[in-house]
Amino acid sequence: MNQALAAFPHDSLAQAWRLGEYHTGAMEPWSQNVLAALLAAIGGHDVLEVGTYLGHTSAVLCLTLETLGGGEFLGAEIDPERRTRTLQRLRALSLPRVVVNVSPQPGIELLKAQATESFDLVFLDGDHTRAVVEMEADEATRVLRSGGLLCGHDVYGVFDLAGVWTSRGGIALRVPLIHAAGGLGIWQKP
Ligand SMILES: C[S@@+](CC[C@H](N)C(=O)[O-])C[C@H]1O[C@@H](n2cnc3c(N)ncnc32)[C@H](O)[C@@H]1O
Repeated sequence: MNQALAAFPHDSLAQAWRLGEYHTGAMEPWSQNVLAALLAAIGGHDVLEVGTYLGHTSAVLCLTLETLGGGEFLGAEIDPERRTRTLQRLRALSLPRVVVNVSPQPGIELLKAQATESFDLVFLDGDHTRAVVEMEADEATRVLRSGGLLCGHDVYGVFDLAGVWTSRGGIALRVPLIHAAGGLGIWQKP
């Protein structure tokens, strides 16, 4: 095993790297799996992701939606090249029952433009400053349906966002960090 693979904190990550399923900057595969399992558990159909990057987690969410009978995936990605690459990744998948859109708007603007109680899962992974994530979380709470899930990445480490979730009565999962931050915040709308 080379030095880079040996440095991974988890065998599954080295495997994901070899298979091309993981890319530096994307959410860790184990947290992607948790997110997909939660979406399946609530039988969600409408998902909004803030900060799609290159679309790795977006792809997991869209494939999960497809297995659940289809729905809508709406992303926000402010970097034009990353937005294009997200769309390319998603268009390369077989998603006949999923309507895919990725907006160039900042997450907070995109969230504000959505109808109340129109999503089952909102995943925040864009701007990681606490004040912005708090605003996004407030808007996400509005757009989520009852029983819907507000999730967010990088709740531990340098961004220290766990309080965004715990202050709302949610949880912050502490999992192996690959970079300076990681972990998953989860809150369910009553
Ligand atoms: C950590 S990456 C996201 C990783 C992605 N969710 C994944 O798991 O593969 C953060 C991304 O958010 C984008 N971003 C930063 N601020 C944003 C904002 N306010 N709205 C939307 N996207 C934003 C960045 O351009 C970057 O591509």
